[in-house]
Amino acid sequence: MTEPEISTHPGPDELADAVAARLVERLADLQRRGRVPSVVLTGGSIAVKIHEAVARATDRDSVDWGRVDFWFGDERFVPADSPDRNVGQARAAMLDRLPVDPARVHEIAPSDGEYADDVDAAAAGYADRLRAASASDEDATPRFDVLMLGIGPDGHCASLFPGRREMYDERAVVAVRDSPKPPPTRVTLTMAPLRRASEVWWVAAGDEKAQAVHDAVTGSDLDAVPAAGPEGVERTVWFLDEAAASRLPAGWVRR
Ligand code: 6PG
Repeated sequence: MTEPEISTHPGPDELADAVAARLVERLADLQRRGRVPSVVLTGGSIAVKIHEAVARATDRDSVDWGRVDFWFGDERFVPADSPDRNVGQARAAMLDRLPVDPARVHEIAPSDGEYADDVDAAAAGYADRLRAASASDEDATPRFDVLMLGIGPDGHCASLFPGRREMYDERAVVAVRDSPKPPPTRVTLTMAPLRRASEVWWVAAGDEKAQAVHDAVTGSDLDAVPAAGPEGVERTVWFLDEAAASRLPAGWVRR
């Protein structure tokens, strides 16, 4: 595994623009190499800003958006039309504004979808789709090219929360009940798939994330700080605004 890169920016808007520019560049480069890139999107407020920034990026047309696979690191298990759905927020901010291929937007089932209110079945169904898209039967997921993750003030990532057992589950995808962050029922990738991506891109803004960022970057106990677990096989980048980077050890912050 690799040392994390720290990329700091004045505020959330500059952070979002920087991540968007880097994502467009990365996807275009992968496509020039003949790849169909796979990106794992995250939920949360900074993710919405990033998605909006991608949709308005001046060089967005350098990517053939119809040949990008979009996955989700977690999803809220709510009805399809709920404003809480990560896929709904991603569609409104980005996916509906770009010529993506709907068949390559791999959403996690809602609570009123094909599995009705059976969240375990929804998790298993997503796991099946991930396995079907992987390079071999032994792999539970594709080798994601870019896996984006937000971080909570408590050190959670995706829907893996401190003191909870889901992150250790041997399955790639599990249901989460009684989530400390509402809504209470979710579907999430577990820790192993979050450590299989070529690149992990953390995105965080605001003072309230500074301690969790410090704990995750400097290496903490997984039970206490799940965000200390995921890292890229080739690269881990922390895209932070200056507030979220404010508690990093001196010398770690490079602009
Ligand atoms: C979710 C997210 C979650 C989020 C963090 C950060 O579905 O809620 O996946 O892990 O990324 O809680 O969210 P904010 O950017 O809104 O603080």
